[in-house]
Amino acid sequence: MSSASSKFTAWVETLPKWHGLLQLSPDRPYMHAEEDYDSQYGVTAMEPADGEGLCRLLATHGVDTTGPALEIGCGTGYLTFGLARNYPGPDFLVTDPSQAFLRLTQRHVGNDAYTARRHFAVLNADDLGQLPSEMFSVIAMRSTLHHILNVEAFIAASARTLRPGGALVMGAEPCEYGYVLMGALGQTIAPVLAAAGVELEAAWKKQLGNFVDTIRFYCRRDIDKTTAEDKHLFNPHELGELGAAHGLQLKFFPNATFGDFAPPFQAEFVSFSIFFLNYLKYCMLFDAEFLKHISRHLKPQLKYIDDCYRSHVGPAITGVFLLKKTADAAS
Ligand SMILES: C[S@@+](CC[C@H](N)C(=O)[O-])C[C@H]1O[C@@H](n2cnc3c(N)ncnc32)[C@H](O)[C@@H]1O
Repeated sequence: MSSASSKFTAWVETLPKWHGLLQLSPDRPYMHAEEDYDSQYGVTAMEPADGEGLCRLLATHGVDTTGPALEIGCGTGYLTFGLARNYPGPDFLVTDPSQAFLRLTQRHVGNDAYTARRHFAVLNADDLGQLPSEMFSVIAMRSTLHHILNVEAFIAASARTLRPGGALVMGAEPCEYGYVLMGALGQTIAPVLAAAGVELEAAWKKQLGNFVDTIRFYCRRDIDKTTAEDKHLFNPHELGELGAAHGLQLKFFPNATFGDFAPPFQAEFVSFSIFFLNYLKYCMLFDAEFLKHISRHLKPQLKYIDDCYRSHVGPAITGVFLLKKTADAAS
């Protein structure tokens, strides 16, 4: 057993157990029913592409994977499934603040033969500072950073618990400029549909108001977001500066998903208009009739944005953030 693995094993043995899970934080249920999560996002089966793509990305960028990996906010196991099958290091600690999510992930990941030993722990990222320094080679997350209240403290704690040469890698995080563009477009939906003679149903008006208010809430930084589930939008240059302040060097892949880095190496992001309509459908739960009117009558506006980005990637709405700890960075 390597020294990184022995250090991890010795630490895990000291942790309290709670209903068969390691316990690093108190259980905190998700704000929406955990068992409905996959059906809301149209996930019908677990696929290995995201976890495999993440591991390939680490290899391409020379990230050390000889120590344990930590996943934060596993949800139902969308990323966990492929990571458990591809992570080349000795141990994989899968975590979430919600024990209900951890049970779903345990069920979805199954009992195949894996590359790394798996462990499951209740962990709130706000408690990351209590993890031993230089313990993990990789901290992986998908669609989780924007749920964490104090992002600066989280980046600092991640840098501390990473081994030199390791990396914090985050995918499916919302980027500020792309989201604000979606919100601004949302503001035009009511007048555009009215001009086209489409009468807005009361439920549609409510959904629209919720959409534009939600994006403004995410963007604002002068509100207490303690009790909200989704909280923030990010600017790559700000995360780059924050990382650098803690010895982490950022590589940002605009609009990429982890799955893009796995065969057949095809970008999942097609265009702003498709992302926008899917966001309204899956995240804002707009119904099919309302979406049909929006895609028909906002076509000129959506086409204008798609045309601007015919030959280069943008606007950045989401993406993958790889923050690598330089080999000589002190913890
Ligand atoms: C949008 S879901 C993403 C789930 C999964 N990673 C995926 O890609 O489908 C956000 C996840 O972050 C977790 N989460 C929320 N707040 C958290 C926190 N403070 N620390 C760690 N995880 C958190 C939630 O319980 C949930 O599993």
